[in-house]
Amino acid sequence: MQSENLYKQYTETLRKVADIDYASAVLQWDMETYIPEKGAELRGQQISTLSGLAHDFFVTPAFGKILDELLKSNQTDKIKNKNVKLTHEDYIKEKKYSTDFVVELSNETSKAFPNWVKAREENNPSVFLPNLEKLVDLKRREADFLGYEDHPYDALMDDYEPGVKSKDIDVLFTEVRNHLKDFVKTISSKSAPKSDFLFLHYDKQKQWNFGIGLLKQMSFDFSAGRQDISVHPFTTSFSPQDVRVTTKVEENDFRSMTWSCIHEGGHALYEQGLLTEQYGLPCGSACSLGIHESQSRLWENVVGRSLNFWKVNYPKLQSVFPENLSKVPLEDFYKSINVVKPSLIRIEADELTYHFHIMIRYEIEKRLIENSLKVKDVPEAWNEAYKTYLGIDVPTYRHGMLQDVHWSHGSFGYFPTYSLGSFYAVQFFHQAKKDVPDLEKNIIAGNTKPLLDWLREKIHYHGRFYNSQELCEHITGEKLNYKYFKEYAEKKYSQIYNIN
Ligand code: CO
Repeated sequence: MQSENLYKQYTETLRKVADIDYASAVLQWDMETYIPEKGAELRGQQISTLSGLAHDFFVTPAFGKILDELLKSNQTDKIKNKNVKLTHEDYIKEKKYSTDFVVELSNETSKAFPNWVKAREENNPSVFLPNLEKLVDLKRREADFLGYEDHPYDALMDDYEPGVKSKDIDVLFTEVRNHLKDFVKTISSKSAPKSDFLFLHYDKQKQWNFGIGLLKQMSFDFSAGRQDISVHPFTTSFSPQDVRVTTKVEENDFRSMTWSCIHEGGHALYEQGLLTEQYGLPCGSACSLGIHESQSRLWENVVGRSLNFWKVNYPKLQSVFPENLSKVPLEDFYKSINVVKPSLIRIEADELTYHFHIMIRYEIEKRLIENSLKVKDVPEAWNEAYKTYLGIDVPTYRHGMLQDVHWSHGSFGYFPTYSLGSFYAVQFFHQAKKDVPDLEKNIIAGNTKPLLDWLREKIHYHGRFYNSQELCEHITGEKLNYKYFKEYAEKKYSQIYNIN
């Protein structure tokens, strides 16, 4: 009885913390969509006040006591048990952050971001490198007080992909590199499919309507969310009952809206699928960034760039844009949306060469954190890596080390989750095909609900109950295995590029 009462106090505290965090997310969403020009300055302060408040609510000694008591009393319910255990770990971790450190890091990132923007505009890394230097230094300090066994990078990656170590990533990426290096070379020797028709004029409003149609087809719940426009597409959530996605519409590039819509839609379905009764608790939160990305990429690439998906959708698309597509057969359209070509910009990369962009960032940031690469040498290290891995020259720093925002936010250890997500996506889909009869027949018919139901049951409903590695084993019976992505890639692209 007493422990039930304690658990109630525990959930009440965590729900208050969640209320504050989600309120802050609303402000953040507004800042990236509708805020008037002058509103941004104080908005930053409002968000930072709320973050401080959420932290203060969470790390009180009284809450620590509740957690200790609950740990001792050992709940009979396994979900309650897991919630308490995970919250206790979060609590211990959060307590390691001194207020001084949090303030210093937040100050440095707010100084770094505008300098990154400026450096990018001026194509001049030296505007941003002093900020990067400070941030790397702070992140090293952070790794030190958080603690790690093998590598300081592991302490940082733990924020995004709990339990995964850089030595695991090293093994994985060696396999990825060995495979993709040769395979991409083979593909590059073949003639590329035609894709010029994707870059004709596509009316913005018609594109928007088509995107809304795609979200509906994916079973995105519009009574529990909405879509808006932003510069960089993203997904945010205020509860499973209010999940926001954004997209970007380009008049002369049909790809931009369509696949960002499907990608963010995949993230959103995950958020809408979390259990409302677990609101604010670990089992009601997403498992990891890698698993989040597995959902977006499963929809975007494995489904959204498949021939099966377009069998039903392409005739619809042709009827919206007959002037551009009526003479383009489905098969040609399918090939055009799967062109593989080494390129400079990560977010525009195809699903194979994409991983080189990640491996390059991973190596550089890991070396920065272990202090085997100096910040001043990053621009050149970057350019050399692009030459080595992708065989291309980087013409400007804007197209090089200044393209991504992550480091200016102090996010080190984030990039590998994009690749992990892609590989998880393929392994999960492979399993879904085994588990769900007629999965692909349904996709061909425009019915993706059986796939969503499977994702809900296997992934969404569990929240953080399993970490990403446990979840993968639980669903597929084995750990993350690159073999699935390798087979998927070879089958798909050998067909597209006529490779025997
Ligand atoms: Co994503």
